[in-house]
Amino acid sequence: MTVLALETSCDETSAAVVRDGRVLSSAVSSQIKLHAEYGGVVPELAAREHLRNLIPVVQTALRDADVTPEQLDAVAATQGPGLPMALLVGFKAAQAVAFSLRKPFMGINHHEAHLYSPWISQQPAPLAPSLSPPGGERVVEDRVRGENAGGIFFADFTAFQPNVSLIVSGGHTMLVLVESELKHRVLGSTVDDAAGECFDKTGKLMGLPYPAGPEIDRLAEQGNPKAFDFPRPLLNDPGDDFSFSGLKTSVRYFLRDHPGILDDTQRVRDLCASIQAAIVEVLVKKTIRAAKRNHVRCVTASGGVTCNRALRRELARACEREGFELRLAEKSLCTDNAAMIGILAERKLVQQIPASTFDEEIKPGWVLA
Ligand code: KG4
Ligand code: ZN
Repeated sequence: MTVLALETSCDETSAAVVRDGRVLSSAVSSQIKLHAEYGGVVPELAAREHLRNLIPVVQTALRDADVTPEQLDAVAATQGPGLPMALLVGFKAAQAVAFSLRKPFMGINHHEAHLYSPWISQQPAPLAPSLSPPGGERVVEDRVRGENAGGIFFADFTAFQPNVSLIVSGGHTMLVLVESELKHRVLGSTVDDAAGECFDKTGKLMGLPYPAGPEIDRLAEQGNPKAFDFPRPLLNDPGDDFSFSGLKTSVRYFLRDHPGILDDTQRVRDLCASIQAAIVEVLVKKTIRAAKRNHVRCVTASGGVTCNRALRRELARACEREGFELRLAEKSLCTDNAAMIGILAERKLVQQIPASTFDEEIKPGWVLA
């Protein structure tokens, strides 16, 4: 089965072509630079950029996959959650394409797609053909080609086993028990800020550009994580919910009480490492605890914050110590992408889950249950 998938829930315009579990192509145009000027995502601008970029991104994905619209068996798009105007662009476009091709359309929950992204892994390519000549890539910055030098992205569900999945991004932080394929139950989520938001907001307090997560990650590599002691909110709470706004507030007070600290490069690195250590410790300990309590043998993680090196390292250490198999989404699939939307849509269609109807609408507040 060959599926074209679109993702426009926030600030990445993405299209991917998936066939029989393989990611034939994945094109992503990120709007990060545009929103950086405003210190965060501006919904109206995001929607306009999606409108501008969607067709070139889809053209790139089809060309990279060497697939024509007539060869598609289905079309999928993120239906929610996300920014309403942003979602509308990809969702309605995908419905229109499916309608005109007389093919099934599948609306996908963005978080449910994240749950399965750790099962998509890169397998070595035999002989890498060169990338197709450029064209239409004015806005397409990041491509995952089916057969690029790095290898082929392939979703291996034969290896699937029940797991506890951490989804950790700029908008969400949640722990989900994935009991079997396409069957899950949310164990807990953040009661206030998401972990990525905590990285971004504390970084903003330190004067770092948006999004601050990657910058804190970089600076923290040369800092002392024990230099400053920040709170680990809800760490000892027996539930699976998270809270990060208190940590952000304590960083604000810390900066108020230590004027001048931002002028000292090494102290800034220490500060970044200490904030990161607090976030990572909460995420890792609560994930491991949930995995033990639910008697699974596997832990997975996805979402933008899963790019964080300390989080990847600490999850790996903890899982090794506790005897869990760990599956981290590949870095290029941690942030928002249409490949994971296509993989889940194909999975659902193969398992005879009914396609969405053409009168369905976006669900901006669609909560994973
Ligand atoms: O999944 P994502 O691309 O978008 C959504 O929020 O849905 O995640 C973006 C978030 C931002 O908050 C960004 O700061 C964070 O992921 N992030 C990181 C890193 N890379 C991205 N946070 C910490 N360390 C990183 N290396
Ligand atoms: Zn996401």
